Amino acid sequence: MHAIKVVPNIQNKHGDVIDNVFQTTYGALKVASLIGVKYGSKVGLSKGWAFILQPNPELWTLTLPHRTQIIYTPDISNIVFQLEIHPGSFVIESGTGSGSLTHALARRVQPNGTVKTFDFHEQRVQVAKQEFDDHGLSPVVQVSRRDVCQEGFGPEVEGKADAVFLDLPHPWMVVPHAVAAFKPQGGRFCSFSPCIEQVQRTCSALRGARFFEISTIECLQREILVASRTVSVASVDPDSKDETFNLDCTNYNPTMPGHTGYLTFATLPPVWSRNTSAVSEVDCEETVDNS
Ligand SMILES: C[S@@+](CC[C@H](N)C(=O)[O-])C[C@H]1O[C@@H](n2cnc3c(N)ncnc32)[C@H](O)[C@@H]1O
Repeated sequence: MHAIKVVPNIQNKHGDVIDNVFQTTYGALKVASLIGVKYGSKVGLSKGWAFILQPNPELWTLTLPHRTQIIYTPDISNIVFQLEIHPGSFVIESGTGSGSLTHALARRVQPNGTVKTFDFHEQRVQVAKQEFDDHGLSPVVQVSRRDVCQEGFGPEVEGKADAVFLDLPHPWMVVPHAVAAFKPQGGRFCSFSPCIEQVQRTCSALRGARFFEISTIECLQREILVASRTVSVASVDPDSKDETFNLDCTNYNPTMPGHTGYLTFATLPPVWSRNTSAVSEVDCEETVDNS
């Protein structure tokens, strides 16, 4: 599967304008021939054929250029559902990384919501911004360069967020900044971390900041294979033949996608029912080795 921008011409490395021809395993595709073709159509290639699919966040996650590790659709579905994001929501995300999750967040908050996404890596911010522009997401997604551990999310988003999502090495350091970003009525928090030690520190910071409903899950998909099998039963009577039966059998798929990360969710209650001064300094300070 390939993500292709359908423009008839491109520039080659010498700066000459040439026909946009995309090479696939099944032969060359003259990209201009796709203009006017309906999504779902099958098109011929010199050594086979291809389907033209309408882009969506799930397909983008499978084809995007990786600048970082990314979050995949099974985790993304849980994140969007558990953060209770809906059209009109104001969502804060850090880090932006390769923008895999951002695309799903953007689709969910459309048409009148906002995704503010932050990354401290200048080049990743620039590339992500270009992609959001190209994909028509600029009305709902704003990406900024910022070290959220050191600087928080900034005064312009303070008191505005319905949901905060973190995919960072030190999420516990950002918990007090997340508290400042939530609306007075509170909201939902999620952090994605590959290591259980990160989860422990984040949960500790969340407890210190008076979050409740703190829960951590690992999203593992276990496929069950259902198949019809022919079973033969030997006859005890030497004069009669063995019998065969068709049985519907089930079994676990012997291979399974493995660990991606832990998802820690929590709820921040409304401001009138919490005491934010209780955030533990020890819980939030940086003491681990970055490596
Ligand atoms: C694993 S990637 C995020 C991937 C993203 N969730 C996706 O699905 O494409 C983590 C990102 O966090 C950024 N990052 C790490 N520490 C940060 C900090 N203190 N402030 C802002 N961004 C940070 C990194 O530059 C990196 O791009």
